[in-house]
Amino acid sequence: MTNADIGATSRAHATPRFEDLAGRTAVVTGGSRGIGAATCLALARSGARVAINGRDPDALAASVAAVRAAGGEAIAAPADCADLAQVERMRRHIGEHWGAVDLVLAFAGGGTGRPMPLQDISEQDWRSSLDNNLTSTFFTLKTFLPDLLARGRGAILTMASAGGRVAAGAPAGYGAAKAGVIMLTRHLAQEAGPRGVRVNCISPSAVLTERTRANLSPEQLARMLPGFPLGRLGTPEDIAAAALFLLSDASSWITGVTLDVAGGRIML
Ligand SMILES: NC(=O)c1ccc[n+]([C@@H]2O[C@H](COP(=O)([O-])OP(=O)(O)OC[C@H]3O[C@@H](n4cnc5c(N)ncnc54)[C@H](OP(=O)(O)O)[C@@H]3O)[C@@H](O)[C@H]2O)c1
Repeated sequence: MTNADIGATSRAHATPRFEDLAGRTAVVTGGSRGIGAATCLALARSGARVAINGRDPDALAASVAAVRAAGGEAIAAPADCADLAQVERMRRHIGEHWGAVDLVLAFAGGGTGRPMPLQDISEQDWRSSLDNNLTSTFFTLKTFLPDLLARGRGAILTMASAGGRVAAGAPAGYGAAKAGVIMLTRHLAQEAGPRGVRVNCISPSAVLTERTRANLSPEQLARMLPGFPLGRLGTPEDIAAAALFLLSDASSWITGVTLDVAGGRIML
């Protein structure tokens, strides 16, 4: 079964460019794969330079190479974002190359496993969901925020999920962590808005990444289609396009928002 069969053809060429992003420095956590990697490419196509974060050195190197192959500027910024000391070290590493960042994309995370009865969720799975999705986001914002506040400008984007909006389809720990990301975003937007920094969140529904394909069979993916009013699943480029808008000055009067990039699958 191909992308076209499940309604998601590549939108790479339709990804918009925002001229005001040219020359800006971005850090993208979880930029080594999937949605994050596509967003790194889109940022580079708008002329931003991109510090790409992830944990797996091979995936990180591939994402950096893809940006450079497209004529963009990128460096690898390895760190486990659930470890504050590593995030602080990453910030120093980026600073040594390019100075302070202007754009912070806290995209690292992901769901593992299938939904299960609450009493069966292990302590390890619970902590892992919270660490990799919510705590990692908190550590990233905490670490990079002072530079943005000091200069009185910049934009931050966090990554939620439909699993944090609707109590169905995702493991409870993942859903709770992503709902936490949404509220963390609002708190920071309230705090940082008066100081010139905007903070928004993207909440995707099912997006076709390598991970999604590994976790769901083509038949399972096809069965999901009727739930999407727009008749297809998402692509990483769909999310990247929304991300660029929320980072650019085109959205200069938008903060504290969670944008559902979900093919219309938001009406219960
Ligand atoms: N795909 C979807 O359908 C979908 C839907 C809603 C929300 N999302 C969210 O979108 C984001 C990206 O998802 P994806 O589907 O593109 O996933 P993916 O292909 O599995 O990529 C996940 C990325 O996050 C990184 N990551 C995870 N935990 C990390 C940590 N503790 N420290 C540093 N990096 C970490 C991974 O890096 P390494 O592999 O290098 O460690 C990788 O770059 C996630 O936050 C996910 O929850 C995805």
